[in-house]
Amino acid sequence: MSDRISGRDYIQLRDFLSREFGLFFEPSKVTFLENRLLPLLAEMRLESLNDMISCVRTDFFWRGRFLDALTTNETWFFRHPRHFDILREDILPALVRERAKSRRREIEIWSAGCSIGAEACSIAITMHEVLQDAPDWSLRIIGSDVSPQAITRAHEGIYTGSEVRLLSGLLLNRYFMPVDDNNYKIKPELQNLITYEIRNLLEEPWPDREFDVIFCRNTMIYFKDETKAKLTERFYKALRTGGIFIPGATETIHWVGNNEFEREFIRGEYIYRKRMGNNEYILYQFVTSSDLLRALNILVKEHFEYRLQTITQMSHTSPKKALIVPIRFIDRVERLFSDALLKPLLRENVSQ
Ligand SMILES: C[S@@+](CC[C@H](N)C(=O)[O-])C[C@H]1O[C@@H](n2cnc3c(N)ncnc32)[C@H](O)[C@@H]1O
Repeated sequence: MSDRISGRDYIQLRDFLSREFGLFFEPSKVTFLENRLLPLLAEMRLESLNDMISCVRTDFFWRGRFLDALTTNETWFFRHPRHFDILREDILPALVRERAKSRRREIEIWSAGCSIGAEACSIAITMHEVLQDAPDWSLRIIGSDVSPQAITRAHEGIYTGSEVRLLSGLLLNRYFMPVDDNNYKIKPELQNLITYEIRNLLEEPWPDREFDVIFCRNTMIYFKDETKAKLTERFYKALRTGGIFIPGATETIHWVGNNEFEREFIRGEYIYRKRMGNNEYILYQFVTSSDLLRALNILVKEHFEYRLQTITQMSHTSPKKALIVPIRFIDRVERLFSDALLKPLLRENVSQ
């Protein structure tokens, strides 16, 4: 193999990287590609970039090394601290207030492109700090990255002094155990909140659940604008109504749909909230069948659109059905329920 990448090889490589990982390298980046990939090619003892592409397609280990050579896994705890201030001071308290009324005391956050897990752990620390006195809450964080090497390190949970440099002594003591002079291991109670997954954002499937918050910071920076837009739309779909998308501090998002993502400016940062759309509903569950019937009568009498949905009974005397009403009617419906002294046992946002 020569010490240059030919025009033909560049095109083959560019198309492969774009199709397979969403990464986009302009012709001006050929020298960068040469510097990163040709030493790796020698290490792999292969003859051509074509061989390299075939190998990377199927070999897990070399796929990771290949990606690591082209992207940066650089990350650290509480990177861009204001995002974590927003999580601690604004997002989590609002979620707790909203969910306290319902039985669903759970919060799910996704760190997409989590690298070695510093971001996922910073989220876990923040959630733990806010909810440590509320043991009945279930907290769940997914950390995903395309790089198997990065996810292996995330599972190990050992971080250098430089990676934890922004942590106060108090938080370091509370959540880490020293390994040696310069390394710290995250404590199991925090690590247990996080599930790490190897996941290429360009491939199916995506996590089959809805999140309250998604962080995808400094991960789409190498992607083409159209890939960024496609992925942002998918992030939107993976959020619950009212859920928040947080891109990197210097990133702008390339999709807001038909204004479905609402841009909010908090603490000097832009974050994106999933608006309540026409497919958003409120589900009301009642303690007794007679309450359900009274609620139903109100909706019929006032000509509201509604549906009944079969649910898991809370007890064998509670109703087998819940009422579903479009979210746009929420204020009027709740006023009527309140006037009739009707108190739903559970009230939950659902999208259909
Ligand atoms: C610079 S790190 C960002 C880590 C963390 N989000 C932060 O802001 O500190 C970028 C990560 O994106 C990952 N990445 C790049 N392309 C990806 C893809 N197609 N799917 C999933 N992760 C990807 C890389 O492996 C890398 O770990």
